[in-house]
Amino acid sequence: MALRQATRDEQTVRQVLEGTVEALEQDDSVSRALACEAVEVHADGWSGCRDRLIEDLLQAEDWLDRETALAQLPGAPVDQDDDLDFMPSHPTVALVQSAMEERLDLVSADAFDIRDVRWLSTLYHRLRARVRGKAPFPEHARLEDFRFELADRASVALVSDWGTGGRHAAAVARQIARRDPDHVIHLGDVYYSGTPREVHLHFLDMWRAHGPSRARYWALNANHDMYCGGYGYFGHLLPAIGQPASYFSLGNAAWRLIGLDTGYVNGSFTTPQMTWLEAQFAGRARPILLTHHHLLSAFRKRGSALEQWLEPHLAAGRFHGWFWGHEHHLVEYADHRGVRCRCIGHGALPYVPPDLLTRRHPVDIVRIETRRSPTDLARGMHGFALLTFDGPVLHIEYVDEEGGTAWAERWD
Ligand SMILES: [Fe+2]
Repeated sequence: MALRQATRDEQTVRQVLEGTVEALEQDDSVSRALACEAVEVHADGWSGCRDRLIEDLLQAEDWLDRETALAQLPGAPVDQDDDLDFMPSHPTVALVQSAMEERLDLVSADAFDIRDVRWLSTLYHRLRARVRGKAPFPEHARLEDFRFELADRASVALVSDWGTGGRHAAAVARQIARRDPDHVIHLGDVYYSGTPREVHLHFLDMWRAHGPSRARYWALNANHDMYCGGYGYFGHLLPAIGQPASYFSLGNAAWRLIGLDTGYVNGSFTTPQMTWLEAQFAGRARPILLTHHHLLSAFRKRGSALEQWLEPHLAAGRFHGWFWGHEHHLVEYADHRGVRCRCIGHGALPYVPPDLLTRRHPVDIVRIETRRSPTDLARGMHGFALLTFDGPVLHIEYVDEEGGTAWAERWD
């Protein structure tokens, strides 16, 4: 089920944010009882909880105002794409959008009423994530954990920012199925906030309906997956695909794909992963890093925290390549510190075809997808990367939503 028009509209979402603050400030006995039940706090603890929720919602409004103002300034370090849809990288806003989707499962957009206690109950259930804390982070017990075999001749589809449940996501999944890969790896973002409902509708059901049936599936954690606290990703998605943790490696004698979690701590890593990572470089296989968040971008803030964590490995020239998403473009960057850097965040979320004249940050781009989607000329072309491992040679084809090729390259 695709994301609805009302939840993708900035003005509508802003009205819901403001209306919720008013409802919390009124604090009548009916909505208070609902809220206590929804966020699982005792009546004695409600007033402190209510204050935190109000503060959180007001901060979300301030954040939106600030990002909007910054976006007008050339070169400002915003954390938001110039997208067609309203998809801000803010946990509270994403949770409000998830709650709106749930309510709109039951009532039409015309009948949606922000004063309705049933709506408030749904919303408070989602906002519980803001006071509940994160799902536990599964860690390795031994350095050999979370390492998996990749055949010497194998194909792997990489796709990112794909969890919309919409028709472009279905088109991309069908093209992946046509190529019949051995593995499919999603680099993260199930919209809006990775709730269990969204994990089932926008990820598992979509692959079941349109994806390759023979492939093994993998998924990285990301910012949107963590906006609900990661309970959908860790509690539903990973068990459904048989993946033990949010970091893993998949390799053969010549190559090793290393997937790391940059969502649990937004845009950063966790210490256990870094300890485990050290052990992944043993042997002669060339490491290729997979993360949700980016290192480089012409339009968003640079991923400096990732670079700091990885500094010893970058200085030692350990990574052969790095694929990331988060920014919704397909980009080949010039090598950075000896690493082939590719952004493949054009999986399904609508984006405006890039105009490099409006770039905010100086980065060296070799190739960038500028074509429009043939089924919706307002948005850029979607697609995925198909990696075909053939012993020491790796062929990479950037396949679009119609089965065509944006470009191809060979690594060896
Ligand atoms: Fe993201």
